[in-house]
Amino acid sequence: VLVKKGETTRTHLFVQPKNEEMELWTGVRLGADAAKERFEVDEAHSIETFDEVMGELLKESNHLYFDLFSDHERYSTLRTLCSSLLHDRKVNRSPRSFFDVTEPLQQMRLIKSDEEIALIRKALAITQEAHHSAMRLAEPDMFEYELQANIEYVFKLSGAYSDAYTTIVASGNNANTLHYITNSDTLKAGELLLIDAGCEYRMYASDITRTFPVSGKFSPAQREVYEMVLDAQLAVIDLIKPGVTKKFLQTESEHLLAAGMVRLGILEGDVEELVEAKAHKKYFPHGIGHWMGLDVHDPCPYVDEHGHDLRLLPGMVMTIEPGIYIRQDDSTVPEKYRGIGIRIEDNILVTKEGCENLSAGIAKTVEEVEAACR
Ligand code: GLY
Ligand code: MN
Ligand code: MN
Repeated sequence: VLVKKGETTRTHLFVQPKNEEMELWTGVRLGADAAKERFEVDEAHSIETFDEVMGELLKESNHLYFDLFSDHERYSTLRTLCSSLLHDRKVNRSPRSFFDVTEPLQQMRLIKSDEEIALIRKALAITQEAHHSAMRLAEPDMFEYELQANIEYVFKLSGAYSDAYTTIVASGNNANTLHYITNSDTLKAGELLLIDAGCEYRMYASDITRTFPVSGKFSPAQREVYEMVLDAQLAVIDLIKPGVTKKFLQTESEHLLAAGMVRLGILEGDVEELVEAKAHKKYFPHGIGHWMGLDVHDPCPYVDEHGHDLRLLPGMVMTIEPGIYIRQDDSTVPEKYRGIGIRIEDNILVTKEGCENLSAGIAKTVEEVEAACR
Protein backbone atom coordinates (compact mmCIF):
# COMPACT_ATOMS: atom_id res chain seq x y z
CA VAL A 1 0.00 0.00 0.00
CA LEU A 2 1.37 3.40 -0.96
CA VAL A 3 0.20 6.31 1.17
CA LYS A 4 0.85 9.73 -0.29
CA LYS A 5 0.65 12.76 1.94
CA GLY A 6 1.79 15.99 0.38
CA GLU A 7 5.13 15.21 -1.17
CA THR A 8 5.95 12.19 0.95
CA THR A 9 5.02 8.61 0.23
CA ARG A 10 5.10 5.78 2.74
CA THR A 11 5.08 2.14 1.77
CA HIS A 12 3.26 -0.59 3.68
CA LEU A 13 3.73 -4.25 2.90
CA PHE A 14 1.39 -7.00 4.11
CA VAL A 15 2.89 -10.49 4.38
CA GLN A 16 2.05 -13.91 5.75
CA PRO A 17 2.98 -14.16 9.44
CA LYS A 18 5.71 -16.56 10.60
CA ASN A 19 4.30 -20.02 11.23
CA GLU A 20 6.80 -22.79 11.93
CA GLU A 21 4.36 -25.58 11.30
CA MET A 22 3.34 -24.26 7.89
CA GLU A 23 6.92 -23.39 7.04
CA LEU A 24 7.90 -27.04 7.57
CA TRP A 25 5.58 -27.98 4.68
CA THR A 26 5.63 -25.07 2.29
CA GLY A 27 8.83 -23.14 2.91
CA VAL A 28 10.13 -20.17 4.79
CA ARG A 29 7.96 -17.14 5.45
CA LEU A 30 9.85 -13.95 6.19
CA GLY A 31 7.24 -12.54 8.55
CA ALA A 32 6.70 -8.80 8.98
CA ASP A 33 10.00 -7.89 10.69
CA ALA A 34 12.32 -9.61 8.22
CA ALA A 35 10.16 -8.51 5.26
CA LYS A 36 10.57 -4.88 6.26
CA GLU A 37 14.36 -5.26 6.07
CA ARG A 38 14.37 -7.43 2.99
CA PHE A 39 12.09 -5.26 0.86
CA GLU A 40 13.10 -1.87 2.26
CA VAL A 41 9.53 -0.73 2.97
CA ASP A 42 8.59 1.80 5.64
CA GLU A 43 6.22 -0.60 7.40
CA ALA A 44 5.48 -4.30 7.18
CA HIS A 45 2.45 -5.97 8.74
CA SER A 46 0.97 -9.41 9.04
CA ILE A 47 -1.75 -9.86 6.42
CA GLU A 48 -4.00 -10.90 9.33
CA THR A 49 -4.02 -7.26 10.48
CA PHE A 50 -5.03 -5.93 7.06
CA ASP A 51 -8.51 -4.66 8.02
CA GLU A 52 -7.27 -3.05 11.21
CA VAL A 53 -4.26 -1.29 9.63
CA MET A 54 -6.22 -0.21 6.58
CA GLY A 55 -8.99 1.16 8.79
CA GLU A 56 -6.41 3.50 10.33
CA LEU A 57 -4.79 4.45 7.03
CA LEU A 58 -8.13 5.14 5.34
CA LYS A 59 -9.12 7.53 8.12
CA GLU A 60 -6.40 9.85 6.87
CA SER A 61 -7.07 9.53 3.16
CA ASN A 62 -9.31 11.37 0.70
CA HIS A 63 -8.91 9.18 -2.35
CA LEU A 64 -8.46 5.47 -2.81
CA TYR A 65 -6.80 4.04 -5.91
CA PHE A 66 -7.38 0.35 -6.24
CA ASP A 67 -7.68 -2.52 -8.70
CA LEU A 68 -11.47 -2.35 -8.79
CA PHE A 69 -11.96 -5.04 -11.40
CA SER A 70 -9.75 -8.00 -10.50
CA ASP A 71 -9.31 -8.17 -6.74
CA HIS A 72 -12.98 -8.60 -5.81
CA GLU A 73 -12.41 -9.97 -2.33
CA ARG A 74 -10.12 -7.15 -1.22
CA TYR A 75 -12.35 -4.61 -2.92
CA SER A 76 -15.28 -5.81 -0.91
CA THR A 77 -13.25 -5.49 2.33
CA LEU A 78 -12.17 -1.94 1.47
CA ARG A 79 -15.69 -0.91 0.54
CA THR A 80 -16.99 -2.17 3.86
CA LEU A 81 -14.20 -0.34 5.72
CA CYS A 82 -14.84 2.92 3.85
CA SER A 83 -18.56 2.65 4.36
CA SER A 84 -18.25 2.20 8.12
CA LEU A 85 -15.79 5.10 8.34
CA LEU A 86 -18.21 7.26 6.38
CA HIS A 87 -20.91 6.62 8.98
CA ASP A 88 -18.64 6.97 12.00
CA ARG A 89 -19.27 10.41 13.53
CA LYS A 90 -15.90 10.33 15.29
CA VAL A 91 -14.11 10.16 11.95
CA ASN A 92 -14.05 13.37 9.99
CA ARG A 93 -12.10 12.16 6.97
CA SER A 94 -12.19 9.00 4.86
CA PRO A 95 -12.04 8.21 1.13
CA ARG A 96 -14.96 9.69 -0.81
CA SER A 97 -13.58 8.92 -4.24
CA PHE A 98 -12.48 5.62 -5.66
CA PHE A 99 -10.35 5.27 -8.74
CA ASP A 100 -9.43 2.19 -10.69
CA VAL A 101 -5.66 1.96 -10.79
CA THR A 102 -5.51 -0.15 -13.97
CA GLU A 103 -5.63 2.65 -16.51
CA PRO A 104 -2.97 4.90 -14.91
CA LEU A 105 -0.70 1.87 -14.43
CA GLN A 106 -1.13 0.82 -18.06
CA GLN A 107 -0.28 4.36 -19.16
CA MET A 108 2.85 4.28 -16.99
CA ARG A 109 3.87 0.97 -18.56
CA LEU A 110 3.87 2.42 -22.08
CA ILE A 111 7.21 4.22 -21.70
CA LYS A 112 10.03 2.06 -20.42
CA SER A 113 12.71 3.51 -18.14
CA ASP A 114 16.40 2.90 -18.82
CA GLU A 115 16.41 0.25 -16.08
CA GLU A 116 13.52 -1.57 -17.71
CA ILE A 117 15.17 -1.44 -21.13
CA ALA A 118 18.37 -2.86 -19.62
CA LEU A 119 16.37 -5.85 -18.28
CA ILE A 120 14.73 -6.43 -21.68
CA ARG A 121 18.20 -6.36 -23.27
CA LYS A 122 19.36 -8.95 -20.75
CA ALA A 123 16.30 -11.13 -21.47
CA LEU A 124 17.09 -10.86 -25.19
CA ALA A 125 20.74 -11.80 -24.72
CA ILE A 126 19.57 -15.06 -23.13
CA THR A 127 16.86 -15.59 -25.74
CA GLN A 128 19.47 -15.05 -28.45
CA GLU A 129 21.63 -17.80 -26.97
CA ALA A 130 18.60 -20.14 -26.86
CA HIS A 131 17.63 -19.53 -30.51
CA HIS A 132 21.19 -19.97 -31.73
CA SER A 133 21.47 -23.15 -29.69
CA ALA A 134 18.29 -24.49 -31.31
CA MET A 135 19.60 -23.65 -34.79
CA ARG A 136 22.81 -25.51 -34.00
CA LEU A 137 21.10 -28.60 -32.58
CA ALA A 138 18.13 -29.09 -34.91
CA GLU A 139 18.39 -32.10 -37.19
CA PRO A 140 16.07 -34.56 -38.89
CA ASP A 141 14.28 -37.12 -36.65
CA MET A 142 14.61 -34.99 -33.52
CA PHE A 143 11.37 -34.31 -31.66
CA GLU A 144 10.14 -30.73 -31.51
CA TYR A 145 9.95 -31.02 -27.71
CA GLU A 146 13.66 -31.84 -27.52
CA LEU A 147 14.41 -28.39 -28.89
CA GLN A 148 11.84 -26.89 -26.53
CA ALA A 149 13.68 -28.57 -23.65
CA ASN A 150 16.99 -27.21 -24.85
CA ILE A 151 15.64 -23.68 -25.21
CA GLU A 152 14.17 -23.73 -21.71
CA TYR A 153 17.39 -25.27 -20.37
CA VAL A 154 19.37 -22.35 -21.81
CA PHE A 155 16.88 -19.90 -20.26
CA LYS A 156 17.19 -21.37 -16.77
CA LEU A 157 20.90 -21.97 -16.98
CA SER A 158 21.42 -18.32 -17.94
CA GLY A 159 19.53 -16.88 -15.00
CA ALA A 160 16.09 -16.51 -16.55
CA TYR A 161 13.62 -18.13 -14.22
CA SER A 162 11.07 -18.98 -16.86
CA ASP A 163 9.74 -18.52 -20.35
CA ALA A 164 7.67 -15.42 -21.08
CA TYR A 165 5.05 -17.62 -22.83
CA THR A 166 4.80 -21.22 -23.90
CA THR A 167 7.53 -22.06 -26.41
CA ILE A 168 6.33 -22.84 -29.93
CA VAL A 169 8.48 -25.34 -31.86
CA ALA A 170 6.59 -25.92 -35.09
CA SER A 171 8.12 -27.92 -37.91
CA GLY A 172 6.79 -28.05 -41.45
CA ASN A 173 3.04 -27.60 -41.76
CA ASN A 174 2.68 -27.22 -37.96
CA ALA A 175 3.94 -23.66 -38.37
CA ASN A 176 0.60 -22.87 -40.00
CA THR A 177 -1.12 -23.36 -36.66
CA LEU A 178 -0.40 -20.00 -35.04
CA HIS A 179 -0.44 -21.17 -31.43
CA TYR A 180 1.05 -24.63 -31.98
CA ILE A 181 2.38 -25.68 -28.58
CA THR A 182 1.98 -29.45 -28.82
CA ASN A 183 5.62 -29.67 -29.95
CA SER A 184 5.32 -33.44 -30.36
CA ASP A 185 6.26 -34.07 -34.00
CA THR A 186 9.58 -35.14 -35.43
CA LEU A 187 11.59 -32.75 -37.57
CA LYS A 188 11.88 -33.81 -41.19
CA ALA A 189 14.72 -33.16 -43.60
CA GLY A 190 13.80 -30.45 -46.08
CA GLU A 191 11.19 -28.82 -43.85
CA LEU A 192 11.32 -25.45 -42.15
CA LEU A 193 11.17 -25.05 -38.39
CA LEU A 194 9.45 -22.07 -36.77
CA ILE A 195 10.47 -21.35 -33.19
CA ASP A 196 8.69 -18.65 -31.19
CA ALA A 197 10.43 -18.52 -27.80
CA GLY A 198 11.44 -15.86 -25.32
CA CYS A 199 12.58 -15.89 -21.74
CA GLU A 200 11.44 -13.69 -18.90
CA TYR A 201 14.28 -12.09 -16.98
CA ARG A 202 13.51 -10.44 -13.63
CA MET A 203 9.89 -10.05 -14.68
CA TYR A 204 10.70 -8.63 -18.12
CA ALA A 205 9.71 -10.45 -21.29
CA SER A 206 11.30 -11.09 -24.65
CA ASP A 207 9.40 -12.44 -27.66
CA ILE A 208 11.36 -13.76 -30.63
CA THR A 209 10.47 -15.88 -33.64
CA ARG A 210 12.93 -17.33 -36.08
CA THR A 211 12.26 -19.75 -38.93
CA PHE A 212 15.07 -21.90 -40.26
CA PRO A 213 15.63 -25.07 -42.32
CA VAL A 214 15.83 -28.35 -40.39
CA SER A 215 18.67 -29.51 -42.62
CA GLY A 216 20.47 -26.19 -42.44
CA LYS A 217 19.88 -24.96 -45.97
CA PHE A 218 16.81 -23.20 -47.39
CA SER A 219 15.33 -24.69 -50.57
CA PRO A 220 14.89 -22.12 -53.37
CA ALA A 221 11.10 -21.93 -52.72
CA GLN A 222 11.55 -21.58 -48.93
CA ARG A 223 14.13 -18.89 -49.51
CA GLU A 224 11.77 -16.94 -51.79
CA VAL A 225 9.04 -16.79 -49.16
CA TYR A 226 11.53 -16.22 -46.33
CA GLU A 227 13.20 -13.25 -48.03
CA MET A 228 9.82 -11.78 -48.93
CA VAL A 229 8.75 -11.85 -45.25
CA LEU A 230 12.16 -10.58 -44.16
CA ASP A 231 12.10 -7.67 -46.63
CA ALA A 232 8.65 -6.69 -45.33
CA GLN A 233 9.85 -6.92 -41.74
CA LEU A 234 12.90 -4.75 -42.40
CA ALA A 235 10.78 -2.20 -44.29
CA VAL A 236 8.28 -1.95 -41.41
CA ILE A 237 11.05 -1.59 -38.81
CA ASP A 238 12.46 1.19 -40.97
CA LEU A 239 9.20 3.12 -40.59
CA ILE A 240 9.28 3.13 -36.78
CA LYS A 241 9.88 6.52 -35.23
CA PRO A 242 8.11 8.87 -32.82
CA GLY A 243 4.77 10.09 -34.17
CA VAL A 244 3.91 6.96 -36.16
CA THR A 245 0.87 4.86 -35.16
CA LYS A 246 0.66 1.11 -34.86
CA LYS A 247 -2.26 1.18 -37.29
CA PHE A 248 0.02 2.77 -39.91
CA LEU A 249 2.57 -0.02 -39.38
CA GLN A 250 -0.22 -2.59 -39.70
CA THR A 251 -1.51 -1.11 -42.97
CA GLU A 252 2.00 -0.83 -44.41
CA SER A 253 2.84 -4.41 -43.49
CA GLU A 254 -0.35 -5.69 -45.09
CA HIS A 255 0.47 -3.87 -48.34
CA LEU A 256 4.08 -5.06 -48.33
CA LEU A 257 3.13 -8.69 -47.75
CA ALA A 258 0.27 -8.58 -50.25
CA ALA A 259 2.64 -7.14 -52.88
CA GLY A 260 5.18 -9.83 -52.03
CA MET A 261 2.57 -12.57 -52.38
CA VAL A 262 1.50 -11.26 -55.78
CA ARG A 263 5.14 -11.21 -56.87
CA LEU A 264 5.51 -14.89 -55.87
CA GLY A 265 2.17 -15.92 -57.36
CA ILE A 266 0.63 -16.84 -53.99
CA LEU A 267 -2.07 -14.23 -54.67
CA GLU A 268 -3.23 -13.10 -58.07
CA GLY A 269 -4.57 -9.69 -58.98
CA ASP A 270 -4.12 -6.03 -58.21
CA VAL A 271 -2.41 -5.42 -54.84
CA GLU A 272 -4.74 -2.57 -53.82
CA GLU A 273 -7.85 -4.54 -54.74
CA LEU A 274 -6.57 -7.63 -52.92
CA VAL A 275 -5.87 -5.62 -49.77
CA GLU A 276 -9.26 -3.93 -50.06
CA ALA A 277 -10.89 -7.38 -50.27
CA LYS A 278 -8.69 -8.58 -47.36
CA ALA A 279 -7.46 -11.47 -49.54
CA HIS A 280 -4.02 -11.26 -47.90
CA LYS A 281 -5.55 -12.04 -44.50
CA LYS A 282 -5.80 -15.68 -45.49
CA TYR A 283 -2.00 -15.86 -45.31
CA PHE A 284 -1.21 -13.04 -42.82
CA PRO A 285 -4.08 -13.27 -40.35
CA HIS A 286 -2.52 -11.64 -37.27
CA GLY A 287 -1.31 -8.24 -36.13
CA ILE A 288 2.10 -6.83 -37.04
CA GLY A 289 3.05 -6.52 -33.38
CA HIS A 290 2.17 -5.61 -29.82
CA TRP A 291 3.55 -3.77 -26.79
CA MET A 292 6.03 -5.78 -24.75
CA GLY A 293 7.47 -5.28 -21.26
CA LEU A 294 6.47 -6.80 -17.94
CA ASP A 295 4.09 -8.95 -19.97
CA VAL A 296 4.82 -10.43 -23.35
CA HIS A 297 1.64 -8.71 -24.53
CA ASP A 298 1.99 -5.64 -22.33
CA PRO A 299 -1.57 -4.50 -21.59
CA CYS A 300 -0.97 -0.85 -22.48
CA PRO A 301 -3.50 1.09 -24.54
CA TYR A 302 -3.31 1.42 -28.33
CA VAL A 303 -5.75 4.33 -28.44
CA ASP A 304 -6.23 7.44 -26.32
CA GLU A 305 -9.39 8.31 -24.37
CA HIS A 306 -10.98 9.71 -27.54
CA GLY A 307 -10.34 6.48 -29.41
CA HIS A 308 -7.55 8.01 -31.51
CA ASP A 309 -4.54 5.84 -32.28
CA LEU A 310 -1.61 6.47 -29.94
CA ARG A 311 1.49 7.86 -31.57
CA LEU A 312 4.80 6.19 -30.83
CA LEU A 313 7.07 7.89 -28.32
CA PRO A 314 10.70 7.22 -27.34
CA GLY A 315 10.87 4.48 -24.72
CA MET A 316 8.01 2.37 -26.08
CA VAL A 317 8.86 -1.25 -26.89
CA MET A 318 6.94 -3.34 -29.40
CA THR A 319 7.32 -6.51 -31.43
CA ILE A 320 7.37 -6.54 -35.23
CA GLU A 321 6.37 -9.97 -36.44
CA PRO A 322 5.13 -10.39 -39.99
CA GLY A 323 4.32 -13.93 -41.10
CA ILE A 324 3.05 -15.91 -44.06
CA TYR A 325 1.26 -19.21 -43.48
CA ILE A 326 0.49 -21.50 -46.42
CA ARG A 327 -1.22 -24.72 -45.51
CA GLN A 328 -0.16 -27.99 -47.05
CA ASP A 329 -3.67 -28.54 -48.43
CA ASP A 330 -3.99 -25.11 -50.08
CA SER A 331 -4.30 -26.03 -53.75
CA THR A 332 -4.69 -22.39 -54.80
CA VAL A 333 -0.97 -21.61 -54.44
CA PRO A 334 1.97 -22.97 -56.44
CA GLU A 335 2.80 -26.44 -55.13
CA LYS A 336 6.37 -25.56 -54.15
CA TYR A 337 5.07 -23.14 -51.48
CA ARG A 338 2.54 -25.46 -49.83
CA GLY A 339 3.27 -26.34 -46.21
CA ILE A 340 5.50 -23.31 -45.68
CA GLY A 341 4.87 -21.22 -42.56
CA ILE A 342 7.25 -18.38 -41.77
CA ARG A 343 7.27 -15.70 -39.07
CA ILE A 344 10.14 -13.38 -38.20
CA GLU A 345 9.76 -11.49 -34.94
CA ASP A 346 11.99 -8.89 -33.31
CA ASN A 347 11.63 -6.55 -30.33
CA ILE A 348 11.94 -2.86 -31.17
CA LEU A 349 12.62 0.15 -28.96
CA VAL A 350 11.35 3.51 -30.18
CA THR A 351 14.11 6.13 -29.85
CA LYS A 352 14.25 9.90 -30.36
CA GLU A 353 15.70 9.47 -33.84
CA GLY A 354 13.78 6.40 -34.93
CA CYS A 355 14.16 2.99 -33.39
CA GLU A 356 16.60 0.35 -32.23
CA ASN A 357 16.14 -3.34 -32.91
CA LEU A 358 16.94 -4.78 -29.47
CA SER A 359 17.19 -8.28 -30.94
CA ALA A 360 19.47 -7.37 -33.84
CA GLY A 361 22.06 -9.91 -32.65
CA ILE A 362 19.88 -12.92 -33.46
CA ALA A 363 20.66 -14.54 -36.83
CA LYS A 364 18.10 -13.43 -39.38
CA THR A 365 19.35 -13.11 -42.97
CA VAL A 366 19.46 -16.34 -44.98
CA GLU A 367 23.25 -16.35 -44.73
CA GLU A 368 23.26 -15.70 -40.96
CA VAL A 369 20.63 -18.34 -40.30
CA GLU A 370 22.37 -20.99 -42.42
CA ALA A 371 25.66 -20.18 -40.69
CA ALA A 372 24.04 -20.50 -37.25
CA CYS A 373 22.58 -23.87 -38.30
CA ARG A 374 26.08 -25.03 -39.25
N1 GLY B 1 4.71 -15.34 -28.70
C1 GLY B 1 3.51 -14.60 -28.67
C2 GLY B 1 3.45 -13.60 -29.72
O1 GLY B 1 4.27 -13.59 -30.62
O2 GLY B 1 2.65 -12.71 -29.69
MN1 MN C 1 4.74 -11.44 -30.34
MN1 MN D 1 6.20 -14.47 -30.42
